[in-house]
Amino acid sequence: MQIDVNEYKHENEYKELIENYAGKPESLLAIMQDIQKQYNYLPRLAISLISRHVGIPVSRVYAMASFYKAFSLTPKGRFVFRVCDGTACHIKNSETLLDQLQKSLGIKPGETTTDGMYSVETVNCLGACALAPVMVVNGKVYGKVSPGDLEGIIKEYGGQNHGYDNQGS
Ligand code: FES
Repeated sequence: MQIDVNEYKHENEYKELIENYAGKPESLLAIMQDIQKQYNYLPRLAISLISRHVGIPVSRVYAMASFYKAFSLTPKGRFVFRVCDGTACHIKNSETLLDQLQKSLGIKPGETTTDGMYSVETVNCLGACALAPVMVVNGKVYGKVSPGDLEGIIKEYGGQNHGYDNQGS
């Protein structure tokens, strides 16, 4: 698979992080989690370096990355808005919330704004159904969120009318 040339700018950072762990197969998951946490995804170059460090074929590292939902193989925004669409949240209008979020940020679930700031995702139950509808931004939980709350929440992460910028109008 093709490595994005921009990833080479971070090669030393990846190496530094990877070398904090023993070069053994047992370190694989912990290294992947650390890279994911740091970069919000698993860059291809990092995967190749991890593979070499722990002695596990690249194909197996990719298989693992694809299997666990906690890992992403595509770059995500600095701030990831996860809207729960589990049953309890769905009943409490999570769909309207998601629609409003898409309009405000100008992106659909699974997409990232062109400036790399925001991503939107949907998830199935965040385990906080009593707070439905629930949204999580980089680990911070927002409960009983109404579409009217969104503007304030987006502003917390530096955004204002972001969708207009993103749509170029
Ligand atoms: S269904 Fe949304 S938190 Fe459980």
